[in-house]
Amino acid sequence: MSDAREQGCTLWFTGLSGAGKSTLAEFLTPLLRELGKRVEVLDGDEVREYLSKGLTFSKEDRDTNVRRIGFVADLLARNGVVAITAAISPYRALRDEVRARSSAPFIEIYVNAPLAVVEERDTKGLYKKARAGAIPNFTGVSDPYEPPLAPEVVCSTGVESIEESARRVLAYLEARGLAPVGAAAKVE
Ligand code: ADX
Repeated sequence: MSDAREQGCTLWFTGLSGAGKSTLAEFLTPLLRELGKRVEVLDGDEVREYLSKGLTFSKEDRDTNVRRIGFVADLLARNGVVAITAAISPYRALRDEVRARSSAPFIEIYVNAPLAVVEERDTKGLYKKARAGAIPNFTGVSDPYEPPLAPEVVCSTGVESIEESARRVLAYLEARGLAPVGAAAKVE
């Protein structure tokens, strides 16, 4: 597996709801495919519709959700796929647990947009509801979010463009030999 195209990995996006995890995952997918990679996205909302249907947002259920996503991502990653996950995954210990269990490279990407920014955008209208008390245990409002202490990549989506964020991720993959040289420069 010396060819960068055949090496899988997990790109683990973490960050608040509305920070841009799914958007960035969807933006990166065709770029990685153009580079010859196989890509699958495990999106938080989609996973909760299928793989984790019925789970709540209690700590226990979030932990179960994150473990499941980590398990599936690693199955894919060790078979040469770039497995992109986009769940809040608010607890550091769980992300670290999934990392420790991974058999393929695990790349943690902190999608860092300040609460004030995501709350102002409020793309799904959920922050407003959470502030009004209609959604209990809402991450960032009434439930914790523990930022990564040493993420491989930080994308400051509150201040940088999606192209800049994508270049950051691709530059890191290039540096690790997981994407061909010149991959980041292709993003215009
Ligand atoms: S995680 O904590 O288990 O990783 P996940 O990413 O699957 O969360 O789901 C987050 C999405 O569920 C949010 O983007 C939002 O649309 C929705 N959601 C509903 N209730 C909550 C809640 N209490 N906290 C956070 N997100 C919630």
